[in-house]
Amino acid sequence: MVTDHATSRSMTVETASITDQQLKAMINEQLDELIQIRHDLHTHPELMFQEERTSGVVKTHLDAEGIQHVDGLAKGTGVLGYLPGDAGRAIGLRADMDALPILEKTGLPYASAHEGRMHACGHDGHTTILIGTAKILARIQREHGLPRPVTFLFQPAEEGGAGGDLMVQEGCLDGSLIGEPLENIFGLHGWPQTEQGAITTRVGPIMAESDRFEITIRGEGSHAAWPHGSRDPIIAANAILTALQSIVSRNTSPTDSVVISTTMFNAGTAFNVIPSEAKLAGTVRTIDGQVKARTIERMEQIVASIAAAHECTAELDYRHGYPVLVNDAEAVELLREAGVGTLGAQNVHDMVDPVMGGEDFAYFAREIPACFFGLGLIPRGSDSMPLLHQDTFDFNDAAIAHGIEIFCRLALRSA
Ligand code: NI
Repeated sequence: MVTDHATSRSMTVETASITDQQLKAMINEQLDELIQIRHDLHTHPELMFQEERTSGVVKTHLDAEGIQHVDGLAKGTGVLGYLPGDAGRAIGLRADMDALPILEKTGLPYASAHEGRMHACGHDGHTTILIGTAKILARIQREHGLPRPVTFLFQPAEEGGAGGDLMVQEGCLDGSLIGEPLENIFGLHGWPQTEQGAITTRVGPIMAESDRFEITIRGEGSHAAWPHGSRDPIIAANAILTALQSIVSRNTSPTDSVVISTTMFNAGTAFNVIPSEAKLAGTVRTIDGQVKARTIERMEQIVASIAAAHECTAELDYRHGYPVLVNDAEAVELLREAGVGTLGAQNVHDMVDPVMGGEDFAYFAREIPACFFGLGLIPRGSDSMPLLHQDTFDFNDAAIAHGIEIFCRLALRSA
């Protein structure tokens, strides 16, 4: 636990009067059990849309607290929990549950028991924090009532499956499944670039739109010793690969952001054969819709004309991914207040620039006012830690209490 910087400021809600000390004490009492839950989830990572066990763990804890819920969402593993409250509209709190196809190399006693699957993005921590928040708020609700209803969204498939989009489409925000329509929604992500005991967020775009592309270049193969008999797709693909970078340097304003990363270049089967086909694939990240439209327009021109210049043909398959994640100014203000109460003003950071990673919390934020924030994970006494999606990454248990307290304060605030 971080030292409390705001103990003098009591948090009074309409129907409950919970002091900062009482809230922190309630969370502390739960902490050992929650750390065990986190380690258990870490040992049993499940890939997108296969989160059956994880979903079962969530439901067991909701049932134990008598929290109503709807399950079987978003292709089967999504869970929507609900606690009633006084206000007409609910606050939404969201966690993602899926793991990644990575071979874990942490060497931890609770490391993955499933080879090739790993909680390398810390969603085990996010799920635990939301379970913990539900437990605390259920207790407060039983003893004092809650100032507003709370909806808990446990979603599958954040890592590329757009589970968040399915949750939205199935009615998780509009009150059609359970409880009241949501007024706003909050989500967090463990942030390995920020120290434990701090949070970071920003108003406006915080995570990028993340798209994928695949380019297939077709020419004519030949014996490598008779290159003039070929129309070499490798030479054409190489020229296309280089020219794509000019979109960033020459077609985009220096003050706008675009990432074009070609991450796959595949061609050929033998040292003495010029192949007939080459493939490039990668990702495009943008913040602004006009920059994105211009990027796609230039990609199409470059791919077609450079292939033609090399007597090849080429096809661009551009796939739109998660939308840009935009934080609402008022929701960010509420989050900052909860963050200051939990961690102190000096530990609530303003994120200067958006991150070019993608995040499917964007689908919720497209529908209702939302705030997504980074929860600091760098352990005390360290300057850095493994980054998200690295095979040595592990969520920091010391951040669990911070996430829960912030979520609880958002739900319990009086205004
Ligand atoms: Ni993640």
